[in-house]
Amino acid sequence: MKKRILVTGGTGYIGSHTVVELQNSGYEVIIVDNLSNSRADVVDSIEQISGTRPAFEHVDCLDYAGMDAVFAKYPGIQGVIHFAASKAVGESVEKPLLYYRNNLVSLINLLELMPKHDVKGIIFSSSCTVYGQPDVLPVTEQAPIKAAESPYGNTKQINEEIIRDTIKSGSPISAIMLRYFNPIGAHPSALIGELPNGVPQNLIPYLTQTAMGIREKLSVFGDDYDTPDGSCIRDYIYVVDLAKAHVIAMNRILEGKQKQQAEVFNVGTGRGLSVLELIKTFESATGVKLNYQIAPRRAGDIVKVWADPAYANNELGWKAETSVEDTLRTAWQWQVHLREKGIM
Ligand code: UFG
Repeated sequence: MKKRILVTGGTGYIGSHTVVELQNSGYEVIIVDNLSNSRADVVDSIEQISGTRPAFEHVDCLDYAGMDAVFAKYPGIQGVIHFAASKAVGESVEKPLLYYRNNLVSLINLLELMPKHDVKGIIFSSSCTVYGQPDVLPVTEQAPIKAAESPYGNTKQINEEIIRDTIKSGSPISAIMLRYFNPIGAHPSALIGELPNGVPQNLIPYLTQTAMGIREKLSVFGDDYDTPDGSCIRDYIYVVDLAKAHVIAMNRILEGKQKQQAEVFNVGTGRGLSVLELIKTFESATGVKLNYQIAPRRAGDIVKVWADPAYANNELGWKAETSVEDTLRTAWQWQVHLREKGIM
C-alpha cells in the first residue's frame, strides 16, 4: 500500500511541485489548501504531469475541526508537509496579526492533531530569512538566528521554536525543518509554476512578466551595495530540486533515519548570484532582452546570502542539480505558457 502524505498548501508554488515529486516517488498525496493564493485547477495540472490525481480538500489550516475531519477521512496519514502560510514580507509589516494568526495557528493545529491521528512526522517550510545578514558566508545551519526583519520572518523563527519546544515536551512526532534559499523556476512541462496575485514582489516573476511585456521595466533595487557589481546576492534554487529535497526528507523520517527528532537543513545551491548577474544569465539563456533600470535600495533587503549546503548534501544525500540557465529557461517557458493559456 502507498504511504499517505498530507500536503498543506499543495496547490501553491513549492507545494504543487512537491506533490508531483511525491507521487512520482510512490506516495499517495492528500492536498489541503484554502486557495487563498492558488487556483483549484493546479490539481488538474498535477494529474496531467504525474498521471495521478491527488485528493484535494478545500480546507483552511486555521480550521481545527475541518483539519481534524481531514485526518479522520484519510486514515493512516504518515507524514505532513506544511507549506500553507502567508509569505509576503511587505504585507506582513502592514498586517502583522494576520501573519501571526495564519502562520502560527496553522502549525499549532497540525502539531496538536498529528499525535491524535498517529501521524509520525512533519516537514516544515522554513527560510534562510532566519539568518538575517549572516556574518560568515556561505551560511551553515549553526549560524546564529538574527532578530527578524519582518513579522513574516518572525513567524518562521517562532514556528521553528514551536516545533522544537513541542518535541522537547515529549511529543512523539519527528520534524525536519528545511531552510529554503530563493526558489525559482517552474516544472519542465510548464504546466505548474509560480503565479503571484497582482504585482509580483519577487524578482523572477517580475522579471519574466517584464520580458513578456506585462510590466514596463524591472527595477534593480540598488547597485551600490558592498558586492562585486553593487547589486544584492542570493542563492537561487530550482523549485524541482527543492521539491525533491522534501521527498528525501520524508523518506528519512519514515525510515527512522534521523539523528535527532528535530533536524534543520539548508536547502540551497551554495552559489551566490547577484541581481545583475541573474538578469544577464536570463538574457543569454533565453535570448530574450530585458528592459531594466537601476532603482533605489528596497527597505529591509539583505545584502548577500548564500547557503553552505554541505550538511544536506552529506546527510540527506541531496544536491541541487539544475543549472541556473536551465532553471531560468523553465521560468520563461512558464510565462509563455501563461500567455498561451490567456491567463496573463
Ligand atoms: N529584486 C529587485 N527587483 C525586484 C524584485 C526583487 O531588484 O523587482 C531584488 C531584491 O532586492 C533582492 C533579490 O532581487 O536582492 C531577490 O528578491 P526577492 O524578493 O525575489 O527575494 P528575497 O530574497 O527578498 O526574499 C525571498 C522570499 C522571502 C524570504 C526571503 C528569505 O521572497 O519570502 O527570500 O528567505 F523570506
